[in-house]
Amino acid sequence: MKDRLQELQSEALEKVKQSEDLKALQDVRVAYLGKKGPITEVLRGMGKLSKEERPVIGQLANDVRESIANAIQTKQDKLEEKAMEKQLEEESIDVTLPGRPVHVGGPHLLTSIIEEIEDLFIGMGFEIKEGPEVETDYYNFEALNLPKGHPARDMQDSFYITEELLLRTHTSPVQARTMKQKDGHEAVRMICPGKVYRRDTDDATHSHQFTQVEGLVVDENIKMSDLKGVLNAFAKQMFGSERDIRLRPSFFPFTEPSVEMDISCKMCGGEGCSVCKGTGWIEILGAGMVHPNVLEMAGYDPEIYSGFAFGMGPERIAMLKYGVDDIRHFYTNDIRFLKQYHKA
Ligand code: PHE
Repeated sequence: MKDRLQELQSEALEKVKQSEDLKALQDVRVAYLGKKGPITEVLRGMGKLSKEERPVIGQLANDVRESIANAIQTKQDKLEEKAMEKQLEEESIDVTLPGRPVHVGGPHLLTSIIEEIEDLFIGMGFEIKEGPEVETDYYNFEALNLPKGHPARDMQDSFYITEELLLRTHTSPVQARTMKQKDGHEAVRMICPGKVYRRDTDDATHSHQFTQVEGLVVDENIKMSDLKGVLNAFAKQMFGSERDIRLRPSFFPFTEPSVEMDISCKMCGGEGCSVCKGTGWIEILGAGMVHPNVLEMAGYDPEIYSGFAFGMGPERIAMLKYGVDDIRHFYTNDIRFLKQYHKA
């Protein structure tokens, strides 16, 4: 029995030595130390031994079992360490590989222009307002002195949703909304940027959807010269003092008198080209003194209050400032076009 145990021991130790992975080692453990293994079997046969032999063999069997278990544990630690080293090696990062560039986006040119306009007017004490793009017929037209059936409604071809709802054709409804909010006695000094929609055929200078920035000042004693001063300050800051501006008499139902402000065309230097339709000038905004009817409808007494309003197109401003020759570039989202205007 003694020999059998010693034989088992050296056999098991040899197998442990030969085990090359954790699975093989586990097989050795089961084979030699498991319940059905040979050592257990030897221990079961102890009943047949004499009283003297029993403790000696029992001790030996335990020693053998322990030495095999220790050998397995030591080997297991070694194999695990090896496996870990291998994993670390496989997962190591090669810091010398060149990195992948991260493509950073930037604001759309129109967003930048609108922000520039906002900053400029905030600097002159204006607040920023917003209004809905789906607007009521009342605010888009009626409150602006354009009752139903007024011929001037034809100036702005509209996308109607119902009889009373449409996509706003300009940001002017925010004039009426702001005055209503102020309850007819507070002074107003606001600009409102936003999207507007018109049933136009798209070409180099027209788009069925574009942006506008509205402006409105209402207070006691507001005069035409205040309007001129503000527009002049705006134009000089936006385009540089070397650019020419001109005011032409015009007509809008919600302002009286009305003007249009043009700025000399940068593309052709005033010679005439496709952008300025051969005139050398580009219209960038409409303006005028707020019509007394508009003040009255919004709850302001036109005998006490007066005001001026203007509406400009950021697309046209961007085209002039950066020499963009087609309004469609803003909406076709060619990244090569847009990227040129991302600030670093
Ligand atoms: N709403 C006018 C347009 O879209 C522009 C404008 C605004 C004119 C304010 C006068 C005053 O053409």
